[in-house]
Amino acid sequence: MGDGIRFRFDFSLVGDSNLPGGDGIHGPAFQKAMGLVDWAVAALEAKHQRGEIGFPDLPFEVKGARAIARDAAALCRKYTHLLVLGIGGSALGTRAIHEALGGSAALGKMKLSVADNVDPDVFFPLLSSLPMRKTVVVAISKSGGTAETNAQLSLAIAALKKVAGSRWKEQLILVTDPQKGVFRRMADAEGIRSYPVPPNVGGRFSVLSPVGLLPLAAAGVRVERLLSGAAQMESVFRHTRGTDNPVRFAAAVYVHYLLQNPKPVHVWFTYGAGLDRVAEWWQQLWGESLGKRRKDGRPVGQTPARAVGVTDQHSQVQLYQDGPPDKVFTFVRWMEGREKGNVPRAGFAPDMAMLGGRPLRDLFDAEFEGTIGALWDAGRPIVRMEIGRRDEEHLGAFLHFWEWVTAIAGECAGIDPFDQPGVEEGKKIARALMGEKGSEARREAFQRKVAGIRRAEIRVGKDLPPAGRRGKK
Ligand code: PA5
Repeated sequence: MGDGIRFRFDFSLVGDSNLPGGDGIHGPAFQKAMGLVDWAVAALEAKHQRGEIGFPDLPFEVKGARAIARDAAALCRKYTHLLVLGIGGSALGTRAIHEALGGSAALGKMKLSVADNVDPDVFFPLLSSLPMRKTVVVAISKSGGTAETNAQLSLAIAALKKVAGSRWKEQLILVTDPQKGVFRRMADAEGIRSYPVPPNVGGRFSVLSPVGLLPLAAAGVRVERLLSGAAQMESVFRHTRGTDNPVRFAAAVYVHYLLQNPKPVHVWFTYGAGLDRVAEWWQQLWGESLGKRRKDGRPVGQTPARAVGVTDQHSQVQLYQDGPPDKVFTFVRWMEGREKGNVPRAGFAPDMAMLGGRPLRDLFDAEFEGTIGALWDAGRPIVRMEIGRRDEEHLGAFLHFWEWVTAIAGECAGIDPFDQPGVEEGKKIARALMGEKGSEARREAFQRKVAGIRRAEIRVGKDLPPAGRRGKK
């Protein structure tokens, strides 16, 4: 299966000898960060042994992945479209892998849509664009208690009932906790097909569970290869010592810029088709896992930002080069692109003659080096990551790599990288505002707080509804 994974992780531009006068890491600081990483790995390993964290096991669930691939093949024989309903960790990993592999056009099986928003101006047009008779709906919520996904699910069921009548359940699959929550109760009570999300795997760490594997397999992704890549990375992580271990090395670098020389912003620059979606997945992983309060109340975290190579050379790089030195940079690219083609030789103004006859990829590569060069010259710390091939094995390995780096960074920071109290709070307020039974006290407390805000509102135009009441007469 596959030819094995190839990655180039280049940490040369974070060493202080290569960033004179800049923000490089000197030897003792790196040793300190490595010591912390070793301690964190041991602590995470103990949690893993106790069954508290389950993401390291996912690459080895090959039997389950094979069964999912078979079920997905059966779906492909009956349906042409698959609609994922889900948000955050229930959506971003699927979309990242799907688009990084070229999307439905390249994968050639079921056409995949991911609805991760309840904006009516987006959701309703999407729903009505789908051929519902030929569409299977996969609603994903680990907790089952996410209002957005529940609202989407009700609307999707109504649409399915219109075309399938009493047989609507045949076109619906739920992915949720094996025991708890609204979705689980619904699956059990209504006899709806369902897949479990392991209780010890949180949303943003769950892409290699049925959360990602089912929709991706139906879309034509070879899910066993995703797992095989992740398993190879797990083995590199477990069996490589010291600074030859890319996970530990990367974790030490980022821990340094998280804790020892804190850089409040971490920018990913991606060069290569689909990688911006991978950056979007990483943004959630990094932001939601590390943005927390420590036990003593001190906040920790690093704002994850993303930039698209070449395009954002012309929009963000000025800030990154000459603005506040508060950022660490990660450059990510495919080692090899898919498409070839040269710029035509003729027709150039003399001062653009260097482009004529050259592969377009040469210019793309020069932009990659040029942007790194400019930031390096300004003393900015930069990590380069090159992914061997644009395929399932490499994506599985790369995502698994980042899950470990994130978990280790969180452990070093003294927070729980696997919880999300802030997200839960927002969810509870939204449900209370929608009139959830039992949440009256929360709603009233929130409304009292909001009433205390001194308005500073400027209205332009006649008969505008008050802020926050749009659409209500
Ligand atoms: O990473 C997480 O835990 C969150 O982003 C969740 O995935 C997100 O809030 C959706 O939760 P659920 O799958 O329970 O609907």
